[in-house]
Amino acid sequence: MGRMQGKRAIITGGARGIGAAAARRFVAEGARVMLVDVLEAPLAALAAELGEANAAYVAADVADEAQTQRYVAETVARFGGVDAVLLNAGIEGAVMPTIDYPTETFDRVMAVNVRGVWLGLKYAMRAMAGSGGSIVVTSSTAGIRSLPNISAYTASKHAVIGLMRSAALEGAANNIRVNTVNPSPVDTAMMAAMEDKVGVPADQRAALPLAQGTPLKRYGTVEEIAALMLFLASDEASFCTGGVYMADGGVSAGRV
Ligand SMILES: NC(=O)c1ccc[n+]([C@@H]2O[C@H](COP(=O)([O-])OP(=O)(O)OC[C@H]3O[C@@H](n4cnc5c(N)ncnc54)[C@H](O)[C@@H]3O)[C@@H](O)[C@H]2O)c1
Repeated sequence: MGRMQGKRAIITGGARGIGAAAARRFVAEGARVMLVDVLEAPLAALAAELGEANAAYVAADVADEAQTQRYVAETVARFGGVDAVLLNAGIEGAVMPTIDYPTETFDRVMAVNVRGVWLGLKYAMRAMAGSGGSIVVTSSTAGIRSLPNISAYTASKHAVIGLMRSAALEGAANNIRVNTVNPSPVDTAMMAAMEDKVGVPADQRAALPLAQGTPLKRYGTVEEIAALMLFLASDEASFCTGGVYMADGGVSAGRV
């Protein structure tokens, strides 16, 4: 039997990258998934790949309250409830010093990465109140430390650890577990976009300090992050709540 047999999951940021890898893994382990993203074409393609019996999608902006209510309500209507939620949608924002950082970019990063998670917690926890479940929030190594020039992203990924801790305490009475997964660096469109913003040629990415500064000397794969999400979403993690789970090749341990 699959590790997510019979589970009904929502995955935000599910169109590509880590979210799409998690969707593929969850379905392989027996879950049905509702994919949520702003990118409708890749959402539809992934839902078709996973099969109508296993996957559906809602095109929604996680920063918007009405759209958040809609993606949770559509999941309940389609699957009859929600057992697991990955609040994973996120944006990187600008890569520049705070003194030059556009204020509107700061506001948008906080809207998607923090308000979006808070809204997801608010409506998912309501939907799970009677039955319990597991919520996994995607933070980052930038949730516990920083690098220069990513102030808004760093603030947002620190903030979601606070939201997770509050939600874990509030959800415990209803057996709703809430944890963060903290990856980096993972080879996705977001990482490529960040490197583009600092002018790294695509063919030199693997040689970058970001990959080479990782004790394991490489980027992580989306499947490696999805594996930790799977554990936390499944009943195997039944005593895990309120935790910060690194999947970062050793970055948070220090330098080699
Ligand atoms: N790649 C890394 O190294 C890394 C490291 C640490 C944390 N993360 C986090 O992992 C998560 C997934 O990122 P990824 O690396 O797979 O990148 P990605 O860009 O491939 O995936 C992010 C997804 O979120 C979606 N999204 C963005 N804004 C949205 C919005 N307002 N509403 C709905 N969907 C929205 C995007 O369309 C995209 O499909 C993010 O929260 C990111 O911050 C990534």
